[in-house]
Amino acid sequence: MFIYNSAIEKIIALENNIFLLKAHCPEIASTIQPGQFLNIKVSETTFPLLRRPFSVCDVEGDSIFIMFNILGEGTKLLQKKHIGDTLNIIGPLGNGFSLGGNFETAVIVAGGLGSAPFPYFIKKLNMDKKIACFVGGKSEHDVIQYGMRNVKVSTDDGSLGFKGNVVELLQQELSSYEYSKIKIFGCGPTAMLRSLREFTIKNNIECEVSTECAMACGFGICMGCPTESAKQNDKYLLVCKDGPVFNVKDVVI
Ligand SMILES: Cc1cc2nc3c(=O)[nH]c(=O)nc-3n(C[C@H](O)[C@H](O)[C@H](O)COP(=O)(O)OP(=O)(O)OC[C@H]3O[C@@H](n4cnc5c(N)ncnc54)[C@H](O)[C@@H]3O)c2cc1C
Ligand code: FES
Repeated sequence: MFIYNSAIEKIIALENNIFLLKAHCPEIASTIQPGQFLNIKVSETTFPLLRRPFSVCDVEGDSIFIMFNILGEGTKLLQKKHIGDTLNIIGPLGNGFSLGGNFETAVIVAGGLGSAPFPYFIKKLNMDKKIACFVGGKSEHDVIQYGMRNVKVSTDDGSLGFKGNVVELLQQELSSYEYSKIKIFGCGPTAMLRSLREFTIKNNIECEVSTECAMACGFGICMGCPTESAKQNDKYLLVCKDGPVFNVKDVVI
């Protein structure tokens, strides 16, 4: 983990107020793993004081991509940046998804902006693995299919695909899979991850989830990102250092 000044190469507006930012950072591009994140200083001033964490969305050559939507001050500032502006980035941070293992099919379950880490995950997954993606949102405007493959969609309001949440869609569709040969990789809102945890533990399906919480340092110093551990010996885990990707059995969501 190091700090880099990286030039912005592109900011691409995707549909539905989602942006992709491409920055030149060979050092991070050559080492970062899917599911790891970057802690980005979004302004030249002391406001906002804290950096903002973003999953690596993709890597192309010497460049890294993040995907974001405008939520508050930090992301508003990020969207206003120009090509050639410099971003101060700390990374790679945290633990990523396990790409190996003896599963045959990687089943991706993403809700809303939870799609962000998966374009790079899909790119890096071994060629011999099959991929199935379940992508959900509140309505069709919240469904992000960028970089996904073999996609099935759900929306809470039924405006696109299956009417219901993405874990309900998963439960319906998984009846045609052999549970023993799949592994689930999830990212999305807490409520979605909670129900994914319940479903996968109940059905004894291997699952890793990328969790989110407010962060400060991003590398285990400030103790600002505790999450309750489900392991016997630990009370708390740090999302930035022990995660953000966890075996779903290890954390209470
Ligand atoms: C490991 C990790 C990876 C992340 N990856 C991405 C990513 O790839 N793309 C992306 O867009 N965002 C990602 N996030 C969330 C991102 O950091 C926040 O969206 C961002 O900090 C919002 O900053 P802001 O200044 O625009 O909003 P703020 O002004 O900080 O917040 C605006 C509102 O959003 C709420 N909020 C802020 N952060 C979060 C959060 N993490 N979850 C829920 N509510 C929040 C605040 O409580 C507030 O109500 C990630 C977070 C973590 C911890
Ligand atoms: S953000 Fe500082 S310890 Fe996790």
